Amino acid sequence: MLRQPELIDCGDYLVAQGRNLVEGSISTQPLFTDESLRDTIHELRAMLEKDGHAWKNLESPEATRIHEFAGVWFQRLDFPALGLSTVMDRRWPWFDEGGVNTLGRRLTSEEACLLRPWPKWMYIRPLLPDLAGKSILEVGSSNGFFPFQFAGLGAAQVTGLEIRKRRYESSVLARELLGLERVDLRHTDFLVDFTIPAHDVVFASEVVNHLLCPMWGLARMATLAKECLIVDTGVFETQYHGMDLSTGWTKGESLPRFLSYQISDGLFRSFFDAIGIRPADIEVFVEPNAMHYLYRIDTRQMHQRLAAGDINECLLPSLTMQFRFPSV
Ligand SMILES: C[S@@+](CC[C@H](N)C(=O)[O-])C[C@H]1O[C@@H](n2cnc3c(N)ncnc32)[C@H](O)[C@@H]1O
Repeated sequence: MLRQPELIDCGDYLVAQGRNLVEGSISTQPLFTDESLRDTIHELRAMLEKDGHAWKNLESPEATRIHEFAGVWFQRLDFPALGLSTVMDRRWPWFDEGGVNTLGRRLTSEEACLLRPWPKWMYIRPLLPDLAGKSILEVGSSNGFFPFQFAGLGAAQVTGLEIRKRRYESSVLARELLGLERVDLRHTDFLVDFTIPAHDVVFASEVVNHLLCPMWGLARMATLAKECLIVDTGVFETQYHGMDLSTGWTKGESLPRFLSYQISDGLFRSFFDAIGIRPADIEVFVEPNAMHYLYRIDTRQMHQRLAAGDINECLLPSLTMQFRFPSV
C-alpha cells in the first residue's frame, strides 16, 4: 500500500512525503500542435512512399555489409549517395510496436519502425539549442542516427555512447558509409564509464528509463552537461512521486529483453531540485495524454550552485564527480 503524499510538520522541520515541498503548477508547452503534427505525418508518409523507388543498390558490397546487421537496425539510416537505406530490405529493420515513434498511434507500428527515429526527430530538432561549434553527447546512441544529425547541424564535437555491442558496431559501419569519421562513437556503459568528458549539451531519448539506476544516470547526465540537458522520456503525468518497473520478455526465453522504469513528472522535478536544478531552469514539453515528456534543462546555474557548495553535503561528492577508484 502506497503512503499518501503529505506535508508533515515535525516541529523545527517539515517532511515533504511523496511530493515536492512546494506544490507548483505544471508549466508546460505542447510537444507539437495539431497543425505541426499533421504536417509531420504528411512528411513522414512521403518518405515511406519515396522508399519504393529511392533505393536501388541491393546487390552492392555495402548492402552486404548492412545485411550483416539484419535485425540490429533499431534506427533507420539512409545513405543516399550509395542508393542504400537500412529499411530497403524488410529483413533488416528491428520491428516492434513502435512506441513513441507512432506519434500517439497516428502512425502504424510498421510505419513507425520503418521510419524510426524520424518521427521523434521531427519534434526534437526544433527544441535543440544552436549546436554550431558546440560539443554534444548522446547517451544510448543505438545505430548512430542522432549523433550523425548533430554533426550535420554543425556541432564541433559529437560523442555517442552505446552499451550493446552489435548496435555500436552497426553505428561504426554507418559512420563509415556516411563519411562522418569525426563522430566519436564508444561502446561503453554510461553508468560506470568515468572517462566520459563533460560536453556543452547532453541528450538522451528514451534511455533514462532503461538504465539500471535511472536517477544516478540522470544525475551523471546533468553533471556532464555544461550548458544544456535534454531528456526525452516516458512519465506519469502527476506531481506526486511515483516510479514503477516493467520488464519485457521474449516468449520462450528466460532473460528479460529490457527493463523500463516509468517515473512521475513530480519525482523528476523534485529530484532535479535536490541536485541543484530549479524550476526556472527547466522547460517541459508534453505529448498530450501520451505519458511522454521532453525536459530541456539549462544546467549552468546548477554548476554555479555546486561550485558554491550550495547543495546538501551528502550529494556533493557524487555531483562534483569526486570518484575514487581501487589502486591496481
Ligand atoms: C530505447 S533505445 C533508444 C535509442 C535512441 N536513443 C533512440 O531514441 O532511438 C535505448 C538505447 O540505450 C542503450 N543503453 C541502455 N543502457 C545504456 C547504458 N548504460 N550505457 C549506454 N547505452 C545504454 C540501449 O542499448 C539502447 O540502444
